[in-house]
Amino acid sequence: MEKIEAKRRIVLVPVPAQGHITPMMQLGKSLNLKGFLITVVQGLFNQVSSSSQQVSGFQFVTIQESFPESELERLGPIEFLIKLNKTSEANFKDCIAQLLLQQSNENIVCIIYDEFMYFCGVAAKEFKIPSVIFSTSSATNQVSRCVLSKLNAEKFLFDMKDPEVQDKVVENLHPLRYKDLPISGVGPLERLLELCREISNKRTAFAVMINTVSCLESSSLTRLQQELGIPVYALGPLHITASATSSLLEEDRSCVEWLDKQKPRSVIYISLGSIVKMETKELLEMAWGLLNSNQPFLWVIRPGSIVRSEWIESLPEEVSKMVIERGYIVKWAPQKEVLGHPAVGGFWSHCGWNSTLESIVEGVPMICRPFDGEQKLNAMYIESVWRIGIQLEGEVERKGVERAVTRLIVDEEGAEMRERALGLKEKLNASVRKGGSSYNALDELIKNLKTE
Ligand code: UDX
Repeated sequence: MEKIEAKRRIVLVPVPAQGHITPMMQLGKSLNLKGFLITVVQGLFNQVSSSSQQVSGFQFVTIQESFPESELERLGPIEFLIKLNKTSEANFKDCIAQLLLQQSNENIVCIIYDEFMYFCGVAAKEFKIPSVIFSTSSATNQVSRCVLSKLNAEKFLFDMKDPEVQDKVVENLHPLRYKDLPISGVGPLERLLELCREISNKRTAFAVMINTVSCLESSSLTRLQQELGIPVYALGPLHITASATSSLLEEDRSCVEWLDKQKPRSVIYISLGSIVKMETKELLEMAWGLLNSNQPFLWVIRPGSIVRSEWIESLPEEVSKMVIERGYIVKWAPQKEVLGHPAVGGFWSHCGWNSTLESIVEGVPMICRPFDGEQKLNAMYIESVWRIGIQLEGEVERKGVERAVTRLIVDEEGAEMRERALGLKEKLNASVRKGGSSYNALDELIKNLKTE
């Protein structure tokens, strides 16, 4: 009798936040295109929208967190993640046990989990299922965390009170300065280091995959491989390999029609990702700077992203009137499509890793205004390593904004940055084509999945 080959299933576990869900869904799609069935395990909040739940080859399973979503606001990201890991382990094990029971003609070949969902490593070991860690930020960020985890937190915090130390370049991490390390806005350093230790102690994965490209960060990738002692696969930018619907907010497509009416490369697109919040003072300075630059602008302002405001009602009425008349404001945009639009000449970004990759893939130079976590580190790379952007440091004020927009969109300097960005665009596109570094990395990982 003919032997029926078992179907191969991969379980994916993202962190419930837009910047993590999106690349995980793209990874799922890439693996699905290579013939794997996909199960996405998610909690009750920030679930991937129901439209993407109908994607064939995808199954969505919900496990219950034992605390409400409102806790995220109260706890901050680090405490939230530590708690999420503590409260999810048992439910996740039950979920895997159920999946194994239900599947007669299927094998779970691997659990791929976001590096911050380390409870999965424990479950994978218990069920003897191979696991792989997926990182949605840069390789340089991982290396920086390795450096941080070797520091004495108390001494480091004391030393960092000295502005000279803050400006010093970190040994072997050129051009990153101590103040660029991914420590701000995430909570107390001791707790961050505890989280890093947990990630490392609970690691049972046989490999790490990163949504990056070797041509962008080859030395960080080499160093990371040495630090971790397991294979590191750079298989990004995943959004070129496979697009997947994963937006948690509704995209306002009217901005594309507005872009259609603008001159080529004239528009500055402003978006600060899915998490950043800012004060009205900064919003006002940005608004004046953009207005004074006399360039058209498309501005994403998420509801709730201005501290103590619902939306933009904290702006003086005459300013919001001018902003709405002279620019175009949306609450959430189809970002990748916007960046690919010929009218867009520059991207003002908080430098989240997804936004950074999306901008490079479209050859769009950037104004970098990083806020928290690894955004400062990404901004340094954009400005000083790849030389495709301008960083705004210190307090944002209108003159600086106007100047940066002019430098990027109008001046020769901006045109040179665009040339370099277009050069990187070519390289990134080549990396995911047959024979390219990311293409080969995905293939190698899949081969290893078969033998694990
Ligand atoms: C965060 C971190 O900043 C990031 O560095 C980390 O790797 C993941 O978590 P976030 O702040 O949301 O993510 O930024 P980013 O990584 O840039 O992701 C935002 C995503 O939302 C991008 O894929 C972007 O295309 C999308 N987006 C943003 C939209 O689709 N529309 C918008 O209007 C704004």
